[in-house]
Amino acid sequence: MFSALKSHWFQLRSQKIIDLFGSDTERVKNFSIRFNDLYFDYSKTLIDPIAKKLLIDLCESTNLKGASESMLVGDPINSTENRAVLHSALRNLNATPIYFDRANIMPSVLDTLGSMEHFANNVRNGSWCGSGGKISEIVNIGIGGSDLGPSMATSALSPYHDGPRCHFVSNIDGAHITEQLRNLNPRKTLLIISSKTFTTIETMTNAITAKNWLLAGGGDPARQIVAISSALSRTADFGIPDNLVFGFANWVGGRFSLWGPTGLPLMLAIGPEDFRSFLRGGYEVDQHFKSTDWSHNLPVMLALVGIWHHQICDFCTRAILPYDQRLALLPSYLQQLEMESNGKGVTKTGNNLEYPAGPIVWGAPGTNGQHAFFQLLHQGKQIVPCEFMVAINSHEAELSHHHHLLIANCLAQSEALMLGCDKRQTEEHLVNEFLGKELAFQVSHRTFSGNRPSTTLIYPKLTPKLLGNIIAIYEYRVFVEGIILNINSFDQWGVELGKKLALQLSKIISGQEISTGRDPSTQALIDFVRQHQIDKESTG
Ligand code: F6P
Repeated sequence: MFSALKSHWFQLRSQKIIDLFGSDTERVKNFSIRFNDLYFDYSKTLIDPIAKKLLIDLCESTNLKGASESMLVGDPINSTENRAVLHSALRNLNATPIYFDRANIMPSVLDTLGSMEHFANNVRNGSWCGSGGKISEIVNIGIGGSDLGPSMATSALSPYHDGPRCHFVSNIDGAHITEQLRNLNPRKTLLIISSKTFTTIETMTNAITAKNWLLAGGGDPARQIVAISSALSRTADFGIPDNLVFGFANWVGGRFSLWGPTGLPLMLAIGPEDFRSFLRGGYEVDQHFKSTDWSHNLPVMLALVGIWHHQICDFCTRAILPYDQRLALLPSYLQQLEMESNGKGVTKTGNNLEYPAGPIVWGAPGTNGQHAFFQLLHQGKQIVPCEFMVAINSHEAELSHHHHLLIANCLAQSEALMLGCDKRQTEEHLVNEFLGKELAFQVSHRTFSGNRPSTTLIYPKLTPKLLGNIIAIYEYRVFVEGIILNINSFDQWGVELGKKLALQLSKIISGQEISTGRDPSTQALIDFVRQHQIDKESTG
């Protein structure tokens, strides 16, 4: 499937990205996309017109159109779990019917949105309160998709917060809940237990600890604990009445669930109106994705750039570099979205993949990354495609001089990665400082090979709608890459084995069971833990 692209890459790879601009004066226009207020530039890659055409051909040969329609009409494209993938219904604000099992799901989607709004308004205006009065703090307890989305979005949109403060507990490490609950008033705190399955051990353990904390501090569990889940019998077993459970159907995967009840902490923080703007941002991308030809389709071209860099050029990681402090959690969010979706080893039908699927996704906000790992990005032997993003305007009008520097740094990095600084140029810079052998030595350490690809996504300001745009763009990217790679992007069996072993091991670590038949390395680790456990007497 990739052979024509591979051979084209072998011819292209000795070329310089910068020279592509000389041979095509329209390159900037032809290798960028404007969608609403966003500008996506992928001209700083080695993709030339032939590569672009071959990449777009992949969309045709893998029937991306048919696959998209199949997803959007609710076919069970998550075949191992026999589930549909319809999270886009959660942001379908104009309520055009979407059918699942022959029933229009939109009335129930809008009904749930309405109950979230009703609840959020009541909490925010104080008519729904805790035993100590108006709710001032929200503690969301969840992990993976039940944490990364709401925590990322809540911190991204902090300038819009006018509701209670939000805190997030995900790690089973007792340090996390201890630090998050410290100094909170249990009589004014609302606990949101967020778990699609309501079985996840980390969340259930933290939920019990938090409930005990609330009870011990005089909180009212009947008004201060709500759940977000699709498992009503389990939430009832936990003691949460059905009217305090915000449910979602099986056709919403955990890592795609931010648009629905999982987004409740965000709605509480920014208010229903701004939450709707966020949904509208996602909806705009749905329309763009459905109705735009592939070459002008932002998420599709983002996906094709990803395929080009990973499957064709063999660059096996991708750095997400938001020059936006409020998007500091975006790389972690995208890590789950991309790696849990596309980190697969078999095709949809279960055959071994002949190529690696999703890349390793990582990153950190600029400018901090520049002073940490950018050394490798500029001079390391590995090539890491970089995905920059930056807002043109900040929320800190009085600090515009900071923001000018931020943008300048973002643009400087992509420019430096592409242009580099060759031996001759480096010599010219250093010739007055060093002589002879010392000059050659210094030059060898200070040249930059350049020709390192990057993309830039630039937008006017990080608003709720804009954030909705960004998240939905990346969701479709994951989908498109999955179709081209012929994998199921919507299951996550890779996380199960470790969970099973952890359950067995927890009994051994707590001294309830004796370890037998384990591999020598794990056994030695267990022995060391047991020898040095301070609480051994009480648990053994
Ligand atoms: O273990 C992985 C996973 O199932 C993720 O896919 C999911 O987002 C996370 O755990 C949390 O699951 P739940 O919402 O059911 O607690």
